[in-house]
Amino acid sequence: MAPLAEMEIEMQSFVPDPTRTTDLRRALGQFGTGVALITTQTADGPLGMTANSFSSVSLDPPLVLWSVASTSKRHDAFAQAPAFCIHVLSAQQMDVAQHFAAQGHDFAPYPWDAGANGAPTLHGCLATFHCDGYAVHGAGDHSIILGQITSAAIQPEESDGLLFKRGRFGRFAPD
Ligand SMILES: Cc1cc2nc3c(=O)[nH]c(=O)nc-3n(C[C@H](O)[C@H](O)[C@H](O)COP(=O)(O)O)c2cc1C
Repeated sequence: MAPLAEMEIEMQSFVPDPTRTTDLRRALGQFGTGVALITTQTADGPLGMTANSFSSVSLDPPLVLWSVASTSKRHDAFAQAPAFCIHVLSAQQMDVAQHFAAQGHDFAPYPWDAGANGAPTLHGCLATFHCDGYAVHGAGDHSIILGQITSAAIQPEESDGLLFKRGRFGRFAPD
């Protein structure tokens, strides 16, 4: 069979208007990402949320971002959080991702402590980034939350990362 680049595969193009959100989701879902758990401490206790919108932004100063849906019950708590923690999940932590996608307040199944900035910090992740809130920008139906990393930690052993693509979880295993 000819390599993919040489095959004549016709792209299905469309204008992303409100009637094509499913198609837009499918197209965006071709971009595989890692999976993060974002946590913060609130007056109602620890709060968590699974997010794949996490991205690095700047090394100096060290800035990262993620975006939260305006319709989320957890939007205001995260948009107003003075500090939060971003956890990079390992391939063994798919259950963590599913747990904190379904709800945000139940931390009972997982060991955690108050990290360097007071944000709930789960054990066994590939990396953690404790951040101070840096800026929040409204963007369509999401808010972009920028954080300045005040403390970073990395697991010394090389473990596979949890990935998300086309609406499904998978794992990164290097060649
Ligand atoms: C893999 C994955 C990635 C997600 N990424 C985001 C994200 O970046 N931003 C977001 O607002 N919600 C994201 N979600 C959805 C939230 O985790 C959660 O399911 C949603 O906020 C539930 O609505 P609620 O907050 O009103 O309870 C993601 C869900 C999954 C499973």
